[in-house]
Amino acid sequence: MLRISAFRLLGRTGASRLSLLEDFSLRHYSSDPLGVQDDTRDARAYFTTPIFYVNAAPHIGHLYSAVLADALCRYHRLRVPSAAATRFSTGTDEHGLKIQQAAAAAGLAPSELCDRVSAQFQQLFREADISSTDFIRTTEARHRMAVQHFWGVLKARGLLYKGLYEGWYCASDECFLPEAKVTRQPGPSGDLCPVSLESGHPVSWTKEENYIFRLSQFREPLQRWLRGDPQAITPEPFHHAVLQWLEEELPDLSVSRRSSHLHWGIPVPGDDSQTIYVWLDALVNYLTVIGYPNAEFKSWWPTTSHIIGKDILKFHAVYWPALLLGAGMSPPHRIYVHSHWTVCGQKMSKSLGNVVDPRTCLDRYTVDGFRYFLLRQGVPNWDCDYYGEKVVKLLDSELAFALGGLLNRCTANRINPSGTYPAFCTTCFPSEPGLVGPSGRAQAEDYALVSAVATLPKQVADHYDNFQIYKALEAVSSCVRQTNGFVQRHAPWKLNWESPVDAPWLGTVLHVALECLRVFGTLLQPVTPSLADKLLSRLGISATERGLGELHFLPRFYGHPCPFEGRRLGPETGVLFPRLDQSRAWLESYTNAF
Ligand code: MSP
Repeated sequence: MLRISAFRLLGRTGASRLSLLEDFSLRHYSSDPLGVQDDTRDARAYFTTPIFYVNAAPHIGHLYSAVLADALCRYHRLRVPSAAATRFSTGTDEHGLKIQQAAAAAGLAPSELCDRVSAQFQQLFREADISSTDFIRTTEARHRMAVQHFWGVLKARGLLYKGLYEGWYCASDECFLPEAKVTRQPGPSGDLCPVSLESGHPVSWTKEENYIFRLSQFREPLQRWLRGDPQAITPEPFHHAVLQWLEEELPDLSVSRRSSHLHWGIPVPGDDSQTIYVWLDALVNYLTVIGYPNAEFKSWWPTTSHIIGKDILKFHAVYWPALLLGAGMSPPHRIYVHSHWTVCGQKMSKSLGNVVDPRTCLDRYTVDGFRYFLLRQGVPNWDCDYYGEKVVKLLDSELAFALGGLLNRCTANRINPSGTYPAFCTTCFPSEPGLVGPSGRAQAEDYALVSAVATLPKQVADHYDNFQIYKALEAVSSCVRQTNGFVQRHAPWKLNWESPVDAPWLGTVLHVALECLRVFGTLLQPVTPSLADKLLSRLGISATERGLGELHFLPRFYGHPCPFEGRRLGPETGVLFPRLDQSRAWLESYTNAF
């Protein structure tokens, strides 16, 4: 696998290919710890979040979608050195009945509501360190042009026809529903009201002439796409769910509404009496961002990864790929799906008054702390519950105590008075346990630690590929614990720099621990960018030494020179992560943790 992709990457022929390959594999001496020698090294990538409705202020669920996409994108940038190879878009979904009604209820013009709430999303994402390269608003002229062009292509290909649509419409979810998906629930006045079975939101009966997309023609092409690309939708249960949906009949889809009913949207080209359905409008945002319909979009489109919540899976995995196929394009490369956050066991909702403001969380737990919490606790396959105490416990134990404590233990002046990356002694810690001689001090557990940290980058890469960022963080956290165990076992504070017997081993213990910290700091960059920067800066690792391509763990152990040995550590800039719970009880429960 490595050899094939290296051929392709380097694009040489014959003997020169071979010598390049030999160099290539030599440079990656430590059993390919990075897992980066694949096609992604050279690849472009385009990541997208859903665009967010502007009917209400952002909540933690919205931030979660954005932080997941940000971590995937930042991870890709670590793999692929050229920043120009990555695009990352987010934005706001500003048209449709839902926004029209929310503006009317707030006594505002729709455009005023859009400006106000879109600005809140932009501010939140700036504060949360979301590294997007594009922010799109569907009310922009460039987007209107892209949507109308896309509509024209579908029309020209005979995929739109005019027909009578009669059925239920849910304005909150902006979707049409068959009778089987509607139930009755007591409304505010006690009368039974029709609501969506899935979301519980009210629905109303609609009967009007609309433009209709021939969705039914795409059932088999969609099945072929998904069966031919088992990773198209990740995690697998969502892929499976979409294939299940496609077992059933796929009715044609109404893609416009009467303008007299829905005026806040993009008019159908050549027919002002109809407004384009907000989901068609919204989905095209992914093309607008990359320049559609200008040819430049073609080089980005095949690299698209959509990050979405499970509630909008059908729109992204059925309607959108069908529309794309209809317009002569390929379906998205990847769709990564996540589940939802509940709050103290309940669904977040305005009526329950339990909507959690993400900006308060960023203030309370710090930006990196809250990002870490969301990604460490957020499991894509099922819903997760948020409550304050859980955040505090997690951050105090894993960031303040385990990681911050480890850094402090290896860099504090009393243990490391020279303030350097000490030398590694190969006779104290030979490359194989069987070679340990009289001056050797390494034990079996120490070899287990080296092996765990050496394979960590590859494990993390696999977890990112499977959209299991929480597992990547779990793996890092487990290695941090193991490294603390290593330091505890050898108690460097009991060793003496003045003793010729202790000094080489003391240096080796610190060298190994600092190397582990360098790996952790590098791998944490996508999740906690500022904290990782602080950690790597304290270790004296320069900006050009922080990519996955440079991450050769413990080179001296493998018989290679180490560029960090003897180097001065960076300046001391205070605690790595402040402890959130200052109570004594906390201190007592963690003092004997290792
Ligand atoms: N506007 C549409 C998306 C159009 S994309 C072409 C929309 N917007 S939304 O604001 O309602 O949701 C945006 C994202 O937030 C979705 O991925 C959704 O799953 C996510 N979340 C909304 N509530 C959530 C939670 N409670 N928890 C986690 N994410 C949730 O849908």
